[in-house]
Amino acid sequence: MQISLSGSVSAPGDKSISHRALILGALAEGTTKITGLLEGDDILHTANAMRSFGVRVTRQGAVEGAGAGAWQVEGCGARGFSAPDAPINFGNAGTGARLILGAAAGFNLDVSYCGDESLSSRPMSRVLTPLREMGAIFMARGDKLPLSQKPSAVPEGKNALSPISFTPPHASAQVKSCILLAGLQACGTTIVHEKRLTRDHTENMLEAFGVQVNRETIGSGQKVSINGPAHLCSTTINVPGDPSSAAFLIAGALIVPGSDITVKNVMMNPTRTGLFNVLTQMGAYLRADNVRRSGGETIADFHVKHSNLFGVIVPPERAASMIDEYPILAVISAFAKGKTVMKGLDELRVKESDRLFGTYQLLTDNGVDAQIDGDDLIVRGGIVAGGGVVKTHHDHRIAMSALILGLGAQQKISIDDESMIATSFPNFFDLMASLGANIERL
Ligand code: S3P
Repeated sequence: MQISLSGSVSAPGDKSISHRALILGALAEGTTKITGLLEGDDILHTANAMRSFGVRVTRQGAVEGAGAGAWQVEGCGARGFSAPDAPINFGNAGTGARLILGAAAGFNLDVSYCGDESLSSRPMSRVLTPLREMGAIFMARGDKLPLSQKPSAVPEGKNALSPISFTPPHASAQVKSCILLAGLQACGTTIVHEKRLTRDHTENMLEAFGVQVNRETIGSGQKVSINGPAHLCSTTINVPGDPSSAAFLIAGALIVPGSDITVKNVMMNPTRTGLFNVLTQMGAYLRADNVRRSGGETIADFHVKHSNLFGVIVPPERAASMIDEYPILAVISAFAKGKTVMKGLDELRVKESDRLFGTYQLLTDNGVDAQIDGDDLIVRGGIVAGGGVVKTHHDHRIAMSALILGLGAQQKISIDDESMIATSFPNFFDLMASLGANIERL
């Protein structure tokens, strides 16, 4: 049986912000300094992609706690990206892929792109369709990776892209960001209409790089636009801690009796804090201490104690603000009294794996009463038997969720593959061990 978790750790750097810092730094004129960059595999693939476009990206040294570093990007500025001499490999990273396809679309390049098995099965039409509408040329079988970008036949000195006004059919920050990044090279006003506001890191960071971003709140969504061609000026970025990674540490403390931990430097951007609001509703002891501003974001230290939780209904409107947190919320719900209903999870089917099914499978293989009903996931909490070997489907969040479930289960839970955890949380095992978690690596 797991003994209680205790101690204080810092959340690893935010994955979304780390990708964006490297990409915007690469597009900017001058040298951008980044501290606290997440050194997960996804981000290292983005750093390599920027190098392939002729941008100098260097690691300056480590920052407090493993898995984060001080980095420097000497941007291409007016020169633009140059054509790589080998295919660009995004690894497992959907964010890297979709944002870089947008950032590079405006340069007249001949580029091939590829990714791992999981990424090669994910839909890219959601970005290729609007990018083609802007004038970019992509060749892709089934609109999936591997794919290639071809130079367009515009006269020298003219812009390859035209601005568009686009309403993404799905609530997706990746799609919004892709279009805005492409819009930086288009001549005129590129507009994205979001029916529901998604994480706004691209907008915030573009402003930090000196680009004017026009945002108009419309109901629970927004109209966001930029004028191109835009000029980015280098800046300094302090990457705050990732709330999506902190969620695993917080979950461990909530479900293991007697636990009392602090997770420091967690970003509190309201487009990312859906899970924390749900946990508070469920009765969690989750206190944001030392709330402060850093690097343009609000951050806090979360004090968390084991809590007696009860099930709640999570409405579909919450999904955008906690899209990556459903597997771990489902795990937490397995220890809550009564029924938790998570609604409107269709987008989970196209993450690093079919996360709706993967989450259901990880629960039911360990004796948890769970059910998928259309796009909803229903979990009835109680005693968790455990004893299963979880199929992670190349998905880091399924892998970490399964290990956290194991901390509260009666019998040991194993996972078939731990390697994907390094994509987003390279120091997961070290941090869990420092809190006292008994996770055995084979
Ligand atoms: C991300 C957006 C989300 C999220 C992903 C990171 C981003 O994807 O799941 O982990 O950094 O923009 P979608 O935009 O596809 O919802």
